[in-house]
Amino acid sequence: MKKYNHFWILTTILLVSCQTPQKENYRWLKKSLDAASIQLKIAGEKLEGTGMFPRSIHQVCDTMFISRQLERDPSIFKDSIESESTPELAGQTLLCPASDWTSGFFPGSLWYAYEMTRKDSLKKFAIYYTNLLNPVRYIKNTHDIGFMVNCSYGNALRLTPNDTIKEIIKETADNLCGRFNDTIGCIRSWDFGDWNYPVIIDNIMNLDLLFKAYNLTANNRYNEVAIKHAKTTMKNHFRPDYTCYHVVSYNNDGTVEYKRTHQGKHDESSWARGQAWAVYGYTSCFRETKDSIFLNHAEHIANMIIRRVKTEDLIPLWDYNAIQSPETPRDASAAAVTASALIELSTLTQNNKYFTYAETILKNLSSDAYFAKIGDNQNFILMHSTGSVPNGFEIDAPLNYADYYYLEALKRYMDVKQIKYFDL
Ligand code: GLY
Repeated sequence: MKKYNHFWILTTILLVSCQTPQKENYRWLKKSLDAASIQLKIAGEKLEGTGMFPRSIHQVCDTMFISRQLERDPSIFKDSIESESTPELAGQTLLCPASDWTSGFFPGSLWYAYEMTRKDSLKKFAIYYTNLLNPVRYIKNTHDIGFMVNCSYGNALRLTPNDTIKEIIKETADNLCGRFNDTIGCIRSWDFGDWNYPVIIDNIMNLDLLFKAYNLTANNRYNEVAIKHAKTTMKNHFRPDYTCYHVVSYNNDGTVEYKRTHQGKHDESSWARGQAWAVYGYTSCFRETKDSIFLNHAEHIANMIIRRVKTEDLIPLWDYNAIQSPETPRDASAAAVTASALIELSTLTQNNKYFTYAETILKNLSSDAYFAKIGDNQNFILMHSTGSVPNGFEIDAPLNYADYYYLEALKRYMDVKQIKYFDL
C-alpha cells in the first residue's frame, strides 16, 4: 500500500512539473552582471585621480604573426605598425586620455552597469569619469566625438539629465556637423594620412550623437547631416553582397578617390568589426528616422553576418577573410556590437531570429571562454578582442568597447525579456 502511495505522489509531481512552464534560467546573466560590476568598480578605484581611462592591455607586437595573418611579407606592412608598447609594459593596463577615441566607453560601461544593478558605487564612478570628458567639447579634428560623447554623456543624459549635459551634446554635435561636406555628402572621419577625404564605416556610429542633438533641439540640420551621411555611405561603402569596405576616400567633387582598408586583412576583405558597426549604425538610423530604406539595409547586413560568420560560438574571426588557423584571433568586440544591434533589430522587425542569434552570442561571451575571472584581465570584463592586426596592436586582447557593447546588449536583452536584476 505504501509503495502504491509513492507511485501516485511521484506521478502527480511529474505531471504538474510538465504542465508548469519552466522558469528560464538566468544564472549566467546574474553571474555576469555581478562580476562585471566588481571589475568596473576595481578599475574605477585604481584610476581615480589619474585623469586616464582603461583602454586595453599592453602587448608586444609580433611581426611574424602579423605576417602570417595578413599573408604578406613584413617589408610590405612594417611602416603601418603603430604599437608603442614595450616588453617592459607588456601585461599592464593600456590607459588613454580623454582625447582618445575610446575614452567614452569606460564611463558608458559604468552607466549601463549602474542602470542594471542600481549600485551607487557604480553611479559615483560613472559621474566622475564622465565629467573627466568635459574637454572633449572642444575637439574638432576627428569624427570620433560621436563615440566619445554619446556613450558617456549620452547615457548620463538618460539617467541623470541636466542642462550642462545638454549643452555638451549640442556643442559636440555642432563640431561633428562642422566636419560634414555638402558636395561629398559625408562627415570626414580622419585628419591624418594621405587620403583626400577619408570616411570609414565606423563613422556611421557617430550619427547617434546627431540624432540625440536633434531630439533635444528640433534643429533639423542634425538630422539632415546624419541622413545624408548614412545614404552616401550606403551607396559607396557596400558591395553587392552587403559586406562593406573600411575606408572610402572621396575627391572634392564627391567622386570616390579609392576604397581601402586600414584595419582589415586587405582592401577587398570584410573586417569583422566594420560589418558590426554597419549593422548597428543602420539599425540606429531606422530607429530614429523610421525610413524603411535603413531597415532593409540593416536586415541585409544582419543576414550577411549570420551567413558569413563560421565560428561555432558566433564570435567572429577578426576578419571574415582571415586564414582559418588555430592562432587566428577572434574579435569579441565585433560580436558584442553585433549582439546589441541584433537585439534592437529584433524589436524593430519582430523577427525572432535576430534575437536568438544575439542571445547565443551573449551566452557565449558570458562563458569562461570569454568572460574574465574577477581580478584578472586588468579588470576588463571580456577577453579575446582584436583592435588592429595590420597596425600591430590590441590583438587577442580586452577592449573597453567590447565591454561597453556587451553591457549595452545585456541591458537591451533584459528590456526585451522584461527582467530586472533584482528578480534574477
Ligand atoms: N573605430 C576604430 C575601431 O573600430 O577600431
